[in-house]
Amino acid sequence: MPTSPTTPLPTLVPTTQLSIDLADRRYDILIGCGLLDQPHTVACGAASSEALIVTNTTVAPLYAHRLQRVLAAHHARVNTIALPDGEAHKDWDTLNLVFDRLLGGGYDRRTVLYALGGGVVGDMTGFAAACYMRGVAYVQVPTTLLAQVDSSVGGKTAINHPAGKNMIGAFHQPLRVIADLDTLDTLPDREISAGLAEVIKYGPIADDEFLGWIEQHIDALRARDKSALAHAVRRSCEIKAHVVAQDERDAGLRAILNFGHTFGHAIEAGLGFGTWLHGEAVGCGMGMAADLSVRCGLIDVAYAQRIKALIARAGLPTRGPSLGAARYLDLMRIDKKSESGQIRFVLIDAPGQASLHGADDALVAEVIEANCG
Ligand code: NAD
Ligand code: GLY
Repeated sequence: MPTSPTTPLPTLVPTTQLSIDLADRRYDILIGCGLLDQPHTVACGAASSEALIVTNTTVAPLYAHRLQRVLAAHHARVNTIALPDGEAHKDWDTLNLVFDRLLGGGYDRRTVLYALGGGVVGDMTGFAAACYMRGVAYVQVPTTLLAQVDSSVGGKTAINHPAGKNMIGAFHQPLRVIADLDTLDTLPDREISAGLAEVIKYGPIADDEFLGWIEQHIDALRARDKSALAHAVRRSCEIKAHVVAQDERDAGLRAILNFGHTFGHAIEAGLGFGTWLHGEAVGCGMGMAADLSVRCGLIDVAYAQRIKALIARAGLPTRGPSLGAARYLDLMRIDKKSESGQIRFVLIDAPGQASLHGADDALVAEVIEANCG
């Protein structure tokens, strides 16, 4: 068919297939364009099983009909539930809407849930799948940059508790992850920036060369250049898959993926979930954790400044809200990495290397005073 001058040409980004190797199973992560329209790529689980697409009220009108159409050839029944949108709805009441729908519709144990959306939908769908009838299968179809580079991979599922972020949850690995880069076309700019926080994270903790690549391509990433996005998603997923394969249940190494998250989770909980985006809080938190790494004598100021400069270039906040040091410290004690009330932080030991550290409250308070308000 001839192409009119106004019809954009499809972007030629080859599909990448990565796998994540766990102790007892492996699954694929597919990254590419146009994947949502490929039945053999998307459909999973037993033929003639039933499927429920779990999405939200923003993503449903954009993509649910396409996914529903593609899945209809594989599953005996395909329905969609659209949850209320937002971090503030990552809670029991919203999760119960999924269980009400599953039980009300007579869905059995062979049912496959498809998480179509960002990290909030992905985390809640995964948790619903972990719990429903003691466990059913699910597929991650991430539609935000943040979900494509991080939350859809690795099987951490959760809801929030008013006292703390992701405090109620389970490990439950998906059958497959399908990251269709074309879905990022409709994402607001602020959400692209939020996703870039988790992309930047992988540099200081695991791959200093990747940090250099992000510095060179940050403008292209913000402009949604598909080749740049494809590389960023692929390299992020490779690093995450490598870490999770070594420590699926977060007993040690996996904690490095939480760089910036101790400060970030305190910002999210302290302001009320949804006030700052998760990626914004993590971006700001990474700057604070880099500063703490300097004050602990682990890295030089120049490396911390390099990280902060990149966070700013990504369009993310570099100063935290003024909650007060005491409130930050209280909030940070409610963290899954804390042990016997001692807060533990992921700090940078050297460019591309990180590990867990304790730190004196006085030193942490200095970081808060210097970086907030
Ligand atoms: P989100 O799920 O709230 O999505 C961001 C916004 O973008 C929402 O309003 C959503 O409706 C909208 N949206 C999604 N896809 C869209 C599209 N293609 N076009 C237009 N709008 C779209 O936020 P997020 O940043 O994707 O995820 C953050 C969540 O992920 C947090 O709850 C965080 O705790 C969690 N998380 C989990 C892990 C993990 O390992 N499980 C890792 C990182 C983050
Ligand atoms: N995002 C942190 C983890 O998956 O462990």
